[in-house]
Amino acid sequence: KNIVILISGGGSNMAAIVRAAQREGWQDRFGARVAAVVSNKAAAGGLAFAREQGIAAEVVDHKAFGSREAFDEALAAVIDRHQPALVVLAGFMRILTPGFVARYEGRLVNIHPSLLPAFPGLHTHQRAIDAGCRVAGVTVHQVTAELDHGPILAQAVVPVLPDDTADTLAARVLTQEHVIYPQAVASLLQKR
Ligand code: GRF
Repeated sequence: KNIVILISGGGSNMAAIVRAAQREGWQDRFGARVAAVVSNKAAAGGLAFAREQGIAAEVVDHKAFGSREAFDEALAAVIDRHQPALVVLAGFMRILTPGFVARYEGRLVNIHPSLLPAFPGLHTHQRAIDAGCRVAGVTVHQVTAELDHGPILAQAVVPVLPDDTADTLAARVLTQEHVIYPQAVASLLQKR
């Protein structure tokens, strides 16, 4: 069962999943492996990590395409070469077309740094602080055509502290992301 992980930046969530797969023996236990990491940004730091782990690391640069649909088609062609049982969006900062989502629906997941349905979209940590939230957190969800709104698979909660900034809160949430994303991916693949 091949996992393809899509990133746009540092890829710390991708790295957490790769490390969990190695540490927990996913290949031996349930035949799952991270087959490829694909980024829309050639400069994504996560690509170097993937290559060091011997994982195919590929770039599909969204700026090279004239439309969102053309980019998504090219992206899907690269993904499908790996015949994924699961496509994992991990810090992937592109809004995907309904056609792309339909192609992978049911085997497409995302991580969003808020307790959905609260704070879909961007700048989630600042918005939680501005709203006076006492807790914040992260959600792993199935991806549907409606941005940040698919069925929830896992969540984790962290406290919002009085002197928090968006950065201090983001760091606290990110540590929980690295816990629940590997767990959610493993449990999805054990069920398949
Ligand atoms: C994280 O906050 C994650 O919630 C969001 O993208 C940010 C960076 O993730 N989706 P990563 O370090 O690139 O995995």
